[in-house]
Amino acid sequence: MVGAAQILIEAFEARYHSTPDVARAPGRVNLIGEHTDYNLGLVLPVAIDLDCYVASAPNRLGALRIHSENLDQSREWQIEQIPGLGAARDWSDYVIGIARQLPLGRGRDVLIHSNVPLGSGLSSSAALEVATALALGWEGDLPSIELAKLARRAENEFIGLPSGIMDQYAAVFGERNAALLIDCRSLESLAVALPDDVAIVAVNTMVKHELGQSAYRRRVAECASASRDIGVESLRDARPEQLELIRDPIARRRARHVLSENQRVLDFVEASRKGDLREMGRVLVESHRSLEHDYEVTCAELDFLVYRAMEIDGTFGARMTGGGFGGCTLNLVEPEAVERFKATLGREYREKFGIQPAFYQVRPSQGAERIS
Ligand code: GLA
Repeated sequence: MVGAAQILIEAFEARYHSTPDVARAPGRVNLIGEHTDYNLGLVLPVAIDLDCYVASAPNRLGALRIHSENLDQSREWQIEQIPGLGAARDWSDYVIGIARQLPLGRGRDVLIHSNVPLGSGLSSSAALEVATALALGWEGDLPSIELAKLARRAENEFIGLPSGIMDQYAAVFGERNAALLIDCRSLESLAVALPDDVAIVAVNTMVKHELGQSAYRRRVAECASASRDIGVESLRDARPEQLELIRDPIARRRARHVLSENQRVLDFVEASRKGDLREMGRVLVESHRSLEHDYEVTCAELDFLVYRAMEIDGTFGARMTGGGFGGCTLNLVEPEAVERFKATLGREYREKFGIQPAFYQVRPSQGAERIS
């Protein structure tokens, strides 16, 4: 058994005096295809080797009791009093969003331990949702699109964020040694092997600007309005020459990002198949520029990390990853250059913003699993 799971089982037994089932689900880093998932477009995430572990067992108390080891916080409700939408406005909402969709019997105890840095744009919440569903007894075979959809419903209907399916899909379907090219309309995916001689490094700005969630909602609405002007159901069905039908110039720029980003996902995959790291890197930087100028979801910290990273020898490409307004950048770096990359960028970011960024060199990893 995995060490982390064993430790969690022991902690569970000490806390609740019963033996739990344990499940694991990974975080993700999105290589390219940003803000395309809710437009039914293409994305290319990798599930990473940072995971959330959830342990759970039935109790006879008629209560849902949950504890987060990371935050050292507990919550408890009688089953019939489990709150609704966005009730606590904290980490426990993700557990509630799942718990409300599953039969809990006479009660449940839950213990959580996550190595996915919280609120960093590496999908700690999707990892928590998926691992919770498995630990609470979701019964289907793995991997399963139904599990990804259930986890996404927690986000959309209970947290109230109209996000796409990328994060939960990656947490469920992640593959060791490969990225996932997901078609968010058909919900089919293809494993894309990446060149061997490259390191994937996420750099955490350590900031999360408040406008994140409201700006996300606004972008979703702007894309919907752009689709209406063109007369298509989603921007996936729009062609570049139809952009001029969009009346509002802001919505037009948003749509231009989405259309060009879908194309960049294909260009990146093509370059990856050829092992052309320079071209992959070029496409990443183009994606960042489009997110900066057309989609306007970057921030000073993300822009600094990306453009400064590109000046360091051995960096192939960089861009923001995830929703934006903080969180992480994604960097493709020559393996031998990683230490210098971290030292240089760390020092310069500290000098500029007075914050030490965190670095995570990640590997594509397997999706969610039941451990015991
Ligand atoms: C967040 C959402 C995803 C996706 C990204 C942007 O991570 O949860 O569904 O929309 O932002 O690509």
